[in-house]
This record gives sequence, C-alpha cells and structure tokens, in this order.
Amino acid sequence: MPNPRIPCDCDENKDTDEWGDPPEETSRLARVDLRPHHTTPYILYKEWIKAAEDAGLTRCQTQVFSLATVSRCGDIGNRMMPLREFRNNMYIITISSYSTTFQHFKETRKCTMLFYLAYFKYRTFFLRQIRIDCKVKRLCSGITELYHDKEKLAGKVRYEICKSGQLVDWEALKKQNDRTVIKYRCGKTELKMPDHYVGYALIPHKYEFLHTEAGDYIPDRVTFEKNCDCGWAIRRIMA
Ligand SMILES: Cc1cc2nc3c(=O)[nH]c(=O)nc-3n(C[C@H](O)[C@H](O)[C@H](O)COP(=O)(O)O)c2cc1C
Repeated sequence: MPNPRIPCDCDENKDTDEWGDPPEETSRLARVDLRPHHTTPYILYKEWIKAAEDAGLTRCQTQVFSLATVSRCGDIGNRMMPLREFRNNMYIITISSYSTTFQHFKETRKCTMLFYLAYFKYRTFFLRQIRIDCKVKRLCSGITELYHDKEKLAGKVRYEICKSGQLVDWEALKKQNDRTVIKYRCGKTELKMPDHYVGYALIPHKYEFLHTEAGDYIPDRVTFEKNCDCGWAIRRIMA
C-alpha cells in the first residue's frame, strides 16, 4: 500500500487535500464587515480602496473604473475611465466632447461606475466590487482647466490632436504627434485646454459593496441609498 503523502507548508497542490484526495465541496457565506462608523458609503469606499492598495494593487488598478452610460433611446455605452480625483464626495473625470460618454451625459445625465478589486491578503483571495449610481454635473471651464494643467504631456497632446472616435490615418497622426511634441519642447505651443476638453463631477446617490472570497463562498452585498434628508439607508441584500 502506498504511503500517504505527508502535507507540508510549501505544498502547492491546491486541488487536493493533505492526503491527496479531492477536497470535499462546501458552501459558506462571505460577509461585508460593516462597523458603526460606516455611516456613509464614502468611508467604506475609501477603506476598501486603501486595503486593496495596501495589499499591493497599483493606482492603475484602483483608480481606473468601468463607466456605464445610456443614451436617451436606451443605447448603452461602457468603457474604462481613470478617476482624476475623489473630492467633496464626488468623482471627477475629464473627457472629450467628441466621445460617446459626453453625448450620453448630455442626454440622460446619469451613469454607473464599477470598481473591481481582486487581491491576495492574509492567505485569502479577496474579490470585491463597488458599484456606484451617479447623477452627472458638468464642471465649469475654470475648474476643468486645473485638471488639464495637471495632464501629462501625452494627455495634452492627445486632446490637441485627437477628435475621439473619428477615423484616423495612423501615419499622419503619428507625424502630427511628433511635430506637436517638438513644437512644445521649443516653446512654440503651450498646449492650452481645447474647447472639447470637458470635466464632469459624478455625484453618487447609491452604492453597492459586494464582498466575496475565492473558494466556496456566497457573496454578501450591502447597499447605501441616499435619502432626501441627505442621510443614507443601509441594507444587506442577497447575492
Ligand atoms: C487606462 C485607460 C485610460 C483612459 N483615459 C481616458 C481619459 O482620461 N479620458 C477619456 O475620455 N477616455 C479615456 N480612456 C478611453 C476610454 O476608455 C474610451 O475609449 C474613450 O473615452 C472613448 O469612449 P466613448 O466614446 O465610449 O466615450 C482611457 C482608457 C483606458 C483603458
């Protein structure tokens, strides 16, 4: 009879238990850990982002989110969008007025943001989703200009030479890019904010936090919905 395999800490065989048999399937409930100080969703949002960054996710992973929009006639748009800033409990983004996002914002003034945070900590694979329903409000050009000033050179050149979504001759655009960079370096252009560079504040009225872990878990979800008195109704809902 073969000797049973002796388990050790460096065992990488995750598909079997310590005796080499397939592990028995089970089912557990994950839990969103709500504490008394979680009176607003902003606190939990910041804590979840910080926990993900402390566990090693980069800002590219925690500050770029999926943005869903809808047109007046129900056409759906979805794209990844970098967060410029979370300020006064609003999410600031900058876009081109040639984009579908702009058109949808103009028509329906609403969107849904989605952050996905997947990371390994305490020997656990955390899987978290933060979904945020928002109204949108266009920023005045003075404020938007502050964000344009902070764009890296590639961002400024992009908005100088690109009309988002329009057909492109790649070689011609490359030449235009290279010429613009040279002109900028020689001080012949300041790359000022063009008219189609627009800023928006996404103002949340509903959050949904979903937490689960890799393994045999049923996710847990907690929603925060804004009341008319500016408080938040907090509910735990089923996966
Ligand atoms: C990492 C990353 C960064 C992006 N940064 C921006 C941005 O700052 N502004 C923007 O309008 N689009 C940005 N995009 C592109 C959008 O995802 C999208 O393609 C573009 O806005 C046009 O989409 P739309 O016509 O559906 O609005 C970025 C995409 C990725 C993946």
